[in-house]
Amino acid sequence: MSKQPEQELIDIRAGRDLSVLDLISVDPLTDDDITLIFDIARKFRDFETHKFDLNKNRSMVNVFFENSTRTMSSFDLAGKNLSMDTTSISSSSSVKKGESYIDTAQTLDSYNVKALIVRTSESGASEMIARHVKAAVLNAGDGWHEHPTQALLDALTILDHYDVTDMKDKIVTIVGDIRHSRVFGSMVRLFNKLGATIRVAAPQTLLPMHADKFGVEIFYDVEDALKDAHVVYALRVQEERGSNGYIPTLREYSKMYGITRKRLDLANDKALLMHPGPVRRDVDVHSALVTMDEQSHILRQVENGMAVRKSLLWLLCNRNDGKTKDAVKL
Ligand code: NCD
Repeated sequence: MSKQPEQELIDIRAGRDLSVLDLISVDPLTDDDITLIFDIARKFRDFETHKFDLNKNRSMVNVFFENSTRTMSSFDLAGKNLSMDTTSISSSSSVKKGESYIDTAQTLDSYNVKALIVRTSESGASEMIARHVKAAVLNAGDGWHEHPTQALLDALTILDHYDVTDMKDKIVTIVGDIRHSRVFGSMVRLFNKLGATIRVAAPQTLLPMHADKFGVEIFYDVEDALKDAHVVYALRVQEERGSNGYIPTLREYSKMYGITRKRLDLANDKALLMHPGPVRRDVDVHSALVTMDEQSHILRQVENGMAVRKSLLWLLCNRNDGKTKDAVKL
């Protein structure tokens, strides 16, 4: 008789736990942590139509102080798929009324939830909240700093496409608004751990100060940066984070840095075209390439996002080692 999907997941996990109690940054993740997250995510992907009871009687809150479409829906559906009770708060009214992030988070923590999924427009806010609550905090994007689940789902997409366990012989070219991108913040940390060669191509004004310290090769000419790349990763020009002051016009930006068929053809034949979404068609990427082109993995990224988030919610809300956090009260 074939095993239940739940049992297959338990077998793959083999009693393992993550070394971290929250996911704020990819920095502290060990090689074993990364392997564990991906082993489980792949197994969840095998059973994408099955509803799991692995996190039954556990609840989570999406605390989105900044708006989101895919990240919030993905976490919410991932939690529900594990039979969690989930609720979502977007652009919290409590903070508008003058309450601090910590007081809002501690209020939600008092429901005895197992996870708070936190997005803020300020860098560092998730880490601060994590120290003050018992629930596991998963950073769903903090300002310009990090967006760890995005980098993990991106790495899974690349590793599976090339059927490899690291990125040692892979060139990843990231094009666009690097300066304001928390996706870049997590990607550069994780992909360096996995051994990738990372190239960035952007106008000088859209690069962070001291970009050379990030362990990347800097290109101002996008065509040079794309040659032989295994991954072409486009980032959105993030006007809401202030990028419009850093480029002349979107039309000129797009002419110089937008990914077109001709530019994509400079990359490796098997190169993946990726983007974290939301895509600005004909600015970041030529419209015909976004979802219709066989090299585009943009929707595959979204699918892998669900699998990675299920994996993390199961690992962080349901530990075998019974480790818990102490919450600092103010
Ligand atoms: C990104 C974000 O919000 O940081 N999107 C996402 O979460 N998938 C990237 C962006 O806003 O451009």
